[in-house]
Amino acid sequence: MSKISVGLDIGFSSIKVVALTKVKEQFKLVSLGSIPSPQPGIVSDADVDLEVLANTIKKLFQAAGIEQKEVIAALPESKVFTRIIYDLPYLTDAELSSAIRYAAEEFIPMPLSDVNLNWQILFRSDGDKKGKDAKTVVLVIASPKNVITKYVKLLNLTGLHPKALETEIIAVTRSLVGSNPYSPSTLITQLGATTTDFAIVSKGLIWLTRSISTGGMALTRSLAQHFNFEINQAEEYKKVYGLTEDQLEGKVFEALKPTVDIIISEYRRVIQAFETKFPQNPIKRIVLSGGGAKMPGLVRYLANNLGLEVQEADPWYAITKDKSLTSKLAQDAPTFSVAVGLALREG
Ligand SMILES: Nc1ncnc2c1ncn2[C@@H]1O[C@H](COP(=O)(O)OP(=O)(O)OP(=O)(O)O)[C@@H](O)[C@H]1O
Ligand SMILES: [Mg+2]
Repeated sequence: MSKISVGLDIGFSSIKVVALTKVKEQFKLVSLGSIPSPQPGIVSDADVDLEVLANTIKKLFQAAGIEQKEVIAALPESKVFTRIIYDLPYLTDAELSSAIRYAAEEFIPMPLSDVNLNWQILFRSDGDKKGKDAKTVVLVIASPKNVITKYVKLLNLTGLHPKALETEIIAVTRSLVGSNPYSPSTLITQLGATTTDFAIVSKGLIWLTRSISTGGMALTRSLAQHFNFEINQAEEYKKVYGLTEDQLEGKVFEALKPTVDIIISEYRRVIQAFETKFPQNPIKRIVLSGGGAKMPGLVRYLANNLGLEVQEADPWYAITKDKSLTSKLAQDAPTFSVAVGLALREG
């Protein structure tokens, strides 16, 4: 039996797990599953809540028939500081380490001793280049140690061992565009319950990231307030009518629009920030991932407002799976982008 790799995405609204194996250089789906998260779930720091969450994860693994104990789990984008540092000169590896620590102090609102600092070089000019042409661009990820400790504790309570922890956006990027150097510049959006996360990916690398706290829950809340609905009813309306203007005289659309437009403004900011830095490399498409990608009318609304091609994420496209599963998987494909990306991580 070849090795099985397990990706675990502990979301605020649901927990997803994906197990993959590699057969002749090709990833194959072994098992998958999802389960609603208990409340308050992962946002709580209390031991009792973590125990309830751990039991829910155990149930999920049982139902999916996954026996592996080693997992790769995602850290929420909103709890991790991710930044691309563009303005460094040409630097050797040794010089880079101290330059990054120095730059990191500016964007990390806590002592450096309280975070784990990781980085990836996106670009480095040849050592003999001088002046303006000599530069280094790095992606820096700072994960607060207390967040890591909490996840390790939760996984241990579940009887699991973290093989690696990485941020959601890193995982999503792997499952949706991989490291294909020829894929066009893409803006990936992860529409979760608590946040909307953005990443611009070009030549297989991440060049910009952002996370805002307007997500699926904010949309549901705005409907609940507008119509004086219970949360569950608002959630139903959102999923059924979403942004379709020709349903219920467009009333649901009108109620959701102000909140969706907050997300649209952030799209504009992200696109502008990237295109100002890289005018020769315009964004070609938007890929929608996460549960919110399923909202009726969203693809069209974004395409009309942003003037770009918009598509729903399909993290399964490069993965071998049984024919019988294909249509079932397509249904909530965008929700599994993080878990698939985690399971695809090698090494
Ligand atoms: N058909 C749909 N239309 C609109 N929204 C939807 C639809 N299906 C799911 N959602 C929303 O997607 C969100 C859940 O998505 P997802 O599973 O990606 O979130 P999560 O990972 O649990 O949350 P987070 O990443 O914020 O912790 C919920 O807010 C839910 O209302
Ligand atoms: Mg999520």
